[in-house]
Amino acid sequence: MRIILFSSKPYDQQSFSAVEVPDGWRLSFQEAHLREDSAGLAAGYQVVCAFINDDLSAPVLRQLAAGGTRLIALRSAGYNHIDLHAAQALGLTVVRVPAYSPHAVAEHALALIMTLNRRTHRAFNRTREGDFTLRGLIGFDLHGKTVGIIGAGQIGLTFARIMAGLGCQILFYDPKPISDLASLGAQQVPLDELLERSHIISLHCPLNSATHHLINAARLRQMRRGVMLINTGRGALIDTPALIGALKSGQLGYLGLDVYEEEAELFFEDHSEHPLQDDVLARLLNFPNVLITAHQGFLTHEALAAIASTTRDNIVAWQADAPINQLLPAA
Ligand code: NAI
Repeated sequence: MRIILFSSKPYDQQSFSAVEVPDGWRLSFQEAHLREDSAGLAAGYQVVCAFINDDLSAPVLRQLAAGGTRLIALRSAGYNHIDLHAAQALGLTVVRVPAYSPHAVAEHALALIMTLNRRTHRAFNRTREGDFTLRGLIGFDLHGKTVGIIGAGQIGLTFARIMAGLGCQILFYDPKPISDLASLGAQQVPLDELLERSHIISLHCPLNSATHHLINAARLRQMRRGVMLINTGRGALIDTPALIGALKSGQLGYLGLDVYEEEAELFFEDHSEHPLQDDVLARLLNFPNVLITAHQGFLTHEALAAIASTTRDNIVAWQADAPINQLLPAA
């Protein structure tokens, strides 16, 4: 069995090398992203293992199928980057890692909130330079604040438990009914109500046609003045340029992003030697109340180990003709 891992980093090599795999498997770690011009590297590999910023559109899938690939094993929970209809038509099975660590992402959302609120990043730099003043470091108590969570799945619910533990009032918006509201003292409310009442809003829903640009200029205007917005979901949940006006006017008080609409050509790579070509991102990075991390919500030892072992199990099950964690196109 020949398996090629696109967009692989040293930490992927480490976590995949640490899991036991059946005899005869050959893993090839490829740093290149999967694109139309790199898909040829997969010729002869039955399994292509791809990450979130790999291109799995129809033209790329056609090349993979022509080269002998039969299984696409996503190393992610999100699957907005694959054309499932095209995969099915080409006879490609698609599997994913539905849950590797909801804690990793939920705790990263908390890290963004804590840093933005208590400005520990500024204090870190200041005290190292011998400046022990407190100017500009005033935060707010999280206790008693209302946190609006959009998407009450595994990560949203884990995040809710963390925030409830800090004494926050939890509001959820999710089109599906949520079962464990009572244990959290939480309420499920319409989206408009969540936007109007929340001091902090955190996005944990998948990216699809219904959620694309869910947060836009009109919805930003509906929020409380000075609201904190956190996105660890997917970049295109937000109409990013709309954030700039909201930040300039003070309507948006704090912004924490782990994902960015145009991240595919930027994140996970070092561009520090070159001028940043993305003017929207450059503008966002200039606001003192904006914190951007480069899609690192998943990056814990536990999550990486779970991604590797679930991917191994997914491939074993597919080999045995009993696929698990399979993705099929919506009917
Ligand atoms: P999940 O499938 O357990 O939960 C998603 C929830 O969103 C479900 O309850 C669903 O009903 C809800 N939802 C669907 N449509 C919605 C809508 N229009 N409005 C509000 N809610 C809606 O997914 P999970 O595991 O909680 O992950 C959520 C997202 O987090 C993933 O789709 C992925 O994009 C992102 N993610 C980000 C990571 C990072 O490193 N920053 C790592 C892992 C996931």
